[in-house]
Amino acid sequence: MKILITGGTGYIGSHAAVELITAGHEVEILDNLCNSKRDVLGKIEEITGVEPKFYDVDLRDAEALERVFEESDFEAVMHFAGLKAVGESVEKPLEYYENNVGGTINLLECMEAYAVKKLVFSSSATVYGVQESPEYTEEMVTGLKISSPYGRTKAMIEEIIQDVAQSDPEFEATILRYFNPIGNHSSGLIGEDPNGTPNNLMPFITKVATGEIPVLAVFGNDFATSDGTCIRDYIHVVDLAKGHVIAMEQSTPGVKIYNLGSGKGTSVMEMVKLFSRVSGKNLPYKVVERRAGDLAEFYANPSKAERELGWKVELTVEDAMRDTLKYLQENEQ
Ligand code: NAD
Ligand code: WQD
Repeated sequence: MKILITGGTGYIGSHAAVELITAGHEVEILDNLCNSKRDVLGKIEEITGVEPKFYDVDLRDAEALERVFEESDFEAVMHFAGLKAVGESVEKPLEYYENNVGGTINLLECMEAYAVKKLVFSSSATVYGVQESPEYTEEMVTGLKISSPYGRTKAMIEEIIQDVAQSDPEFEATILRYFNPIGNHSSGLIGEDPNGTPNNLMPFITKVATGEIPVLAVFGNDFATSDGTCIRDYIHVVDLAKGHVIAMEQSTPGVKIYNLGSGKGTSVMEMVKLFSRVSGKNLPYKVVERRAGDLAEFYANPSKAERELGWKVELTVEDAMRDTLKYLQENEQ
């Protein structure tokens, strides 16, 4: 299948590119490089032997986007491109709505105009908002009590995709709700390399490991969990990427929604201890105030993806940490 990957030089998109090429698909990448670097293309080639064709295009530029669709005959689109910093979205909501929602509308318009009818979309567990049970299933009501404009862009895009599918019975969409992706390809060649300050726990842990940050701030230890720190469902990004390949290959008309997570929760303190064990060095940490908006605990119920797609995680949090250390080594040289 010939697939356009939006956001394909980014963290998750680049791993999806590797898995798609490895599975025999033809991949082209579109990205405006606002949070990734062009040299990722060469790294994808080092891993797979194929350098994907690249379009340095912003999804908000409708004319440039249309030229991409004119030039190539895609069968499918994997849509990763978007801004993802929760805190920044609170400060700049309009930028997030314009980029994520506006960019997606341009993309869907081009797909309609060029009769590209297969889509896989990067959604997030954040669309579940606050729920009574920490174990999230796809049937739960979404879109309520979402903690940030970023999260609301994901919920809105999900609705837009549902409406587009409703209007065209041939349209095939798979919405994948990711939990907390960590780790990187085992080669250490590609990984999470955000421009500017990171937002998530693992990139902060790596910055402490490299000495860029002296100590990890653990945001609160008075939550109602076994050790008082928040519990999340960390999923190895290679497992996540493989889930995309399977979802794309098994796509049928209509909208399917799947949680991609491990189903297992790990606390922040457990993450600190695991990283110290895997790296053989104590990770310095300090407990500080809670971060606004953090929920004590949530994790995926991933049984629908296993039942319907035959997908489940194969790698562990320790594997992700080992691969992260390899990525750090590769990038020191
Ligand atoms: P990332 O920032 O590494 O990748 C996103 C890519 O999109 C970047 O390369 C960026 O340059 C590009 N981009 C952003 N706006 C664009 C635009 N208007 N036009 C063209 N390119 C644009 O992020 P990621 O972690 O790889 O996330 C990929 C997707 O998965 C995002 O949609 C994100 O919201 C979603 N997601 C991520 C996580 C996570 O924790 N990483 C969790 C759930 C969902
Ligand atoms: C994990 C845990 C923090 C940093 C976010 C988005 C969500 C999704 C995934 C995109 C929390 C704690 C963190 C630090 C810490 N992204 N922490 N010290 O908040 O579960 O989810 O990323 O869709 O939408 O909200 O992930 O990695 O930020 O935090 O103690 O320096 O680590 O409090 O408990 P989160 P995270």
